[in-house]
Amino acid sequence: MMFMMMKLIALLVLAIAIPSYAQQANVITTGFGSPVSYKDASLTVGRRGPMLLEDTEFIDEMSHFDRERIPERVVHAKGGGAFGYFEVTNDISRYSAAQVFARVGNRTRIAIRFSTVAGERGSADTARDPRGFAIKFYTQEGNWDLVGNNLPVFFIRDSILFPSFIHSQKRHPSTFLHDADMQWDFFTSRPESVHMILFLFSDRGTPDGFRFMDGFGVNTFKLINATGHHVYCKFHYLSNQGLRNLTAARAQQLQAQDPDYAIRDLYNAISSGNYPSWSLNIQVMTEAQAQNSSFNPFDDTKVWPESVYPLIPVGRLVLNENPTNYFQDIEQIALSPSRMVPGIKPSPDRMLQGRLFSYPDTQRHRLGPNFLQIPVNCPLYVRNYQRDGPMSYDNQGNNTVYHPNSVDSLNVSQRAAALSPAYSVSGDVSKYDNGGEDNFAQATNHYQNVLDEAGRVNLVENLGSALSSASVRYQRRALDMFGNVSADLRARLQRRLGLQ
Ligand code: HEM
Ligand SMILES: *[C@@H]1O[C@H](CO)[C@@H](O)[C@H](O)[C@H]1NC(C)=O
Ligand SMILES: *[C@@H]1O[C@H](CO)[C@@H](O)[C@H](O)[C@H]1NC(C)=O
Ligand SMILES: *[C@@H]1O[C@H](CO)[C@@H](O)[C@H](O)[C@H]1NC(C)=O
Ligand SMILES: *[C@@H]1O[C@H](CO)[C@@H](O)[C@H](O)[C@H]1NC(C)=O
Ligand SMILES: *[C@@H]1O[C@H](CO)[C@@H](O)[C@H](O)[C@H]1NC(C)=O
Ligand SMILES: *[C@@H]1O[C@H](CO)[C@@H](O)[C@H](O)[C@H]1NC(C)=O
Ligand SMILES: *[C@@H]1O[C@H](CO)[C@@H](O)[C@H](O)[C@H]1NC(C)=O
Repeated sequence: MMFMMMKLIALLVLAIAIPSYAQQANVITTGFGSPVSYKDASLTVGRRGPMLLEDTEFIDEMSHFDRERIPERVVHAKGGGAFGYFEVTNDISRYSAAQVFARVGNRTRIAIRFSTVAGERGSADTARDPRGFAIKFYTQEGNWDLVGNNLPVFFIRDSILFPSFIHSQKRHPSTFLHDADMQWDFFTSRPESVHMILFLFSDRGTPDGFRFMDGFGVNTFKLINATGHHVYCKFHYLSNQGLRNLTAARAQQLQAQDPDYAIRDLYNAISSGNYPSWSLNIQVMTEAQAQNSSFNPFDDTKVWPESVYPLIPVGRLVLNENPTNYFQDIEQIALSPSRMVPGIKPSPDRMLQGRLFSYPDTQRHRLGPNFLQIPVNCPLYVRNYQRDGPMSYDNQGNNTVYHPNSVDSLNVSQRAAALSPAYSVSGDVSKYDNGGEDNFAQATNHYQNVLDEAGRVNLVENLGSALSSASVRYQRRALDMFGNVSADLRARLQRRLGLQ
């Protein structure tokens, strides 16, 4: 028995070491490796007769084709990406003990996926939409995903509204059309969206491809240092190419002429050796500052003023390697803000907390429960007690499958434990609607002080153009909302819409 098994193993080893006959002969095979007899015709009874069920080559080919599509992402379905590295340029170990930041000069492999949000997988790259800007760091202590956007704030501040918000931006259930009434009904019902709307309908809502835009983590995170102290943190990654936007007219023209404009631009830049890069920065806020802050630091519709919370440089993100297989490397990549490493933790930001659940949940559906075994998602090292399930590819051999046990000598990481200090929370459990909290102060500042006059003119034109597809009822509600930002904005928009 033992001898038979050893013989079997020897045969298996031989089979792997020696190229198969089919490989040597450079021939086409079926999915199960058998050489194909003829590739350009199916098996039929006579020249004009019917096909035969015994054509296993046909069935192998067609049945695989019939299963090619996986669900597209429920949001951010259209995108492109690449690989590269993160290099530490500045020491931030006083804020975070994460190994990825440990030493100036150290490099970590990264993957980045850029995307639009509302369109389907074949939609146009230059639509007015936020751009997703998500980074996977393959660190020595597991994968860290920073899943951000190109605009620093977001539309809503409680994750329970996200499904409804997205429904209002996607297609109408009966007409299957994008629907300005749904969009503006939602926006004006939740005026917390107004700050984000000012960004989205400014020139930054139509960036010139993926290279000429910044990225932001948007949500607030918590950093823990080696002595267990924490600060809250926002991530900014600023384009070293500068910011470039498309005019609304040019963006629209490209939607027709070259719907894959941004993917093409990124691919061509990298393949010609013109590697795009971004500078990673953080803003930090101490617990005392957070307690005393005039705005809620866990509200993702707010920016943290750089005059009070200056940018602290961390490192450089460089993309220097195109994917070799789009489906394998980009369509199947799974990015989630829940993937953190020791030294990086979530804050109580309600949007982040909801996202921690949503991404891995959708990925189990989109890619299957063993999606972390797909090479692009696979960390450098895994050792745990998770086993089996559909398509388990690395089932961790004959290692022990339960814990605690008296067999393996594994233990939890003391470092990870030290970097997870206890913290206290208290309060009465309830559903607290935060929709009325401080919706306009930062939006007013953005309109008056961040945009210049040309920016305000373009903003009004872009808002007017979008709102003119909505019913007058929603146009009027929008005027009320923008009136709370600025009387000047309201007046200009009212003129643009021709409303009395
Ligand atoms: C509660 C709020 C949110 C929920 C529930 C949510 C949910 C999702 C889901 C389900 C996906 C698809 C993931 C996949 O199929 O792999 C996704 C993708 C994405 N989301 Fe969110 N999202 C939220 C807010 C945000 C915010 C605030 C940002 C920006 C910081 C953001 C940025 C992204 C990006 C960049 C992607 C694409 C990731 C990729 O390239 O694969 N999302 N989101
Ligand atoms: C961690 O932060 C605290 C508070 O700022 C500081 O006193 C301490 O020196 C820091 N520890 C390290 C290892 O930098
Ligand atoms: C970082 O640099 C140190 C010293 O050069 C080295 O020991 C460590 O392995 C490096 N880590 C990574 C992720 O490169
Ligand atoms: C793009 O838009 C942003 C925001 O309005 C602005 O700061 C930037 O200068 C613009 N860039 C160009 C090249 O128009
Ligand atoms: C608390 O906030 C006020 C007003 O924003 C500021 O003047 C004061 O310095 C802050 N105190 C601390 C400890 O940060
Ligand atoms: C488990 O695998 C190791 C390495 O392949 C082998 O040496 C050992 O005998 C195996 N143990 C059992 C119980 O099969
Ligand atoms: C695991 O670590 C804990 C805490 O340091 C220790 O008490 C325990 O003895 C360790 N177990 C093993 C098997 O090393
Ligand atoms: C505008 O502000 C007024 C006064 O604060 C408030 O009553 C009203 O609900 C606000 N309108 C919108 C659409 O936010």
